[in-house]
Amino acid sequence: MTFTFLEQTTSTNDEALDSRYGHGDVIVTEYQTAGRGQRGHAWKSARGENLILSIVLCPTFLAASEQFLLLQTVAVALTDLMKLYGLDARIKWTNDIYVDDRKLVGVLIENSLGEGCVVRSRVGIGINVNQKTFDPSLPNPTSMALEIGKELDRRELLTHFYDLFMARYADLEAGRREKLASDYRQLIYRLNERSRFQLPDGTLCEGVIRDVEPNGALIVENPSGEKRSYLFREITLLIPS
Ligand code: BTN
Repeated sequence: MTFTFLEQTTSTNDEALDSRYGHGDVIVTEYQTAGRGQRGHAWKSARGENLILSIVLCPTFLAASEQFLLLQTVAVALTDLMKLYGLDARIKWTNDIYVDDRKLVGVLIENSLGEGCVVRSRVGIGINVNQKTFDPSLPNPTSMALEIGKELDRRELLTHFYDLFMARYADLEAGRREKLASDYRQLIYRLNERSRFQLPDGTLCEGVIRDVEPNGALIVENPSGEKRSYLFREITLLIPS
């Protein structure tokens, strides 16, 4: 396991493609010139204020159909980290980390598959740590410093996160999946609360998140009591304004 610190890079997830990095290696940067978010969005993070990293993993024990388990592991470990700092964080399906209705962490996991399993995974994480002002176009951003009321030591945070993540990853590798799944479930943002959603065609609807299936599908109950499951990109949870 090695930690590589870069002053600047395009994206730590791009850097993590380099074959010199192996399982457990971490790439950290002060600034990304082309940081990437989910759904093709850019991820902008102020220079030297946050924790921007990618962890390289080789989870060959995971079948291609089990990729959601890795995502669950990352999200739960991030809430463990927030708990350590006194923050009661929740997981906005699938793996954004929120405090109340404010986004604290973004995660972008990029997997390479081969022979039916996950050969290599690049777990990219952007934690808003000490940044206090954000691009006004971002919906509800926050940072640990804003939530806690003081600036934090990013190296210390990184060490804590790595240890917490590896402990959760050990559970995954050892097959202790029920614990991960039940911890994830209890941490779902807006579980059992009436929420508004948007469907890919732009339709707005109301419903209540009731659960997440083992494959990662979100189960939403509509106002007439029917439950439907939605895969990633099939539904977007709208944040209350
Ligand atoms: C999102 O919320 O849309 C996901 C954001 C993921 C950002 C992290 S920062 C480290 C890694 N490198 C990237 O380019 N993206 C991820």
